[in-house]
Amino acid sequence: MKTTNDKPLTLSTCLSPSLLHLYDVSSSIVVIIDVLRATSTIATALYNGARSIIPVDSVAECIKLGKQIDVITAGERDGKIADGLKYGNTPLQYTPEFIKGKILVLTTTNGTRLLHMALAEGAPGIITGSFCNLSAVCDYLIKQNRNVILACAAWKDRINIEDTLFAGAVINRIKNNFQQNCDASRMAETLYVQANNDLFGFLKEKNASHYQRLMGYGLEDDIRYCLTVDNSNALVLYDSGRLVRA
Ligand code: MLT
Repeated sequence: MKTTNDKPLTLSTCLSPSLLHLYDVSSSIVVIIDVLRATSTIATALYNGARSIIPVDSVAECIKLGKQIDVITAGERDGKIADGLKYGNTPLQYTPEFIKGKILVLTTTNGTRLLHMALAEGAPGIITGSFCNLSAVCDYLIKQNRNVILACAAWKDRINIEDTLFAGAVINRIKNNFQQNCDASRMAETLYVQANNDLFGFLKEKNASHYQRLMGYGLEDDIRYCLTVDNSNALVLYDSGRLVRA
C-alpha cells in the first residue's frame, strides 16, 4: 500500500454531488464520473483528436463562448440537445472527421456541473473517467502519490447505477494501492463484481433510470458504446479551464 508522509493513501467514493462536501476534496485527486454520457463523450472527443474541451456549467455560457471564439458548442439538458446549441452529448458524434483539431465547449446536466463543484471545493487535481478510458484512469491513479475521490455525477443528485459501477471497476483494479475506509466504495465494488460480465444486461435488468431515459430517445448504441471498456483510452486532465489529453 502507498503512503504519503507515512500516512496511507485513501480511496473514497462519493455517490452523489450532494455528498461532495463530506469529502476532503482539497487534498485529493477527484475523478469525475458520468458514464452516460458526459465523461464518455469527453474521452472520445479527446481520443479522436479534439484540441481541448472547455467544460461550462450553463447553456448561456456555452452560447456566449461560441460567439467569442472558434469552437464547437455542444451540450444537453435532460439528455436532449439543449436549446441554442448545435450539437448534443452523444459520443458517437465525435469522430476524428468531426472533432480533430477543434475545441469543444460542452455543458451537461450533471457531469460538467460536478466538475465545477470539485473546482469550487479546491480539488488540486481533476481527471474524468468512464469505461471508455478505464485503464488510463487506473494507471494514472496508481502512479500518483495522492488520495483519490471517485466522484459520481449521478442524476440531479440522485445516485445512479452506471456511475457506481464505474467507481466499482476502478476500485476493483487499484484497491491494493490504497487504504479503504469507505462503505460506498465497498458497495460500488460489490455491484461491479455482480454486473461485470454484462454491464448492458445489468442496467437493463435493473431498469436503471438513465438507461430507460436514453433507450426512450432511441440511444441504445450510445449506451452500448459508453459501457465498452477502453474504446477511447485517453487520460483526460483538467488544466487551467480546459480538459486536455495528457
Ligand atoms: C449528464 O451530464 O447528465 C449526462 O451526460 C446526460 C446525458 O447526456 O446523457
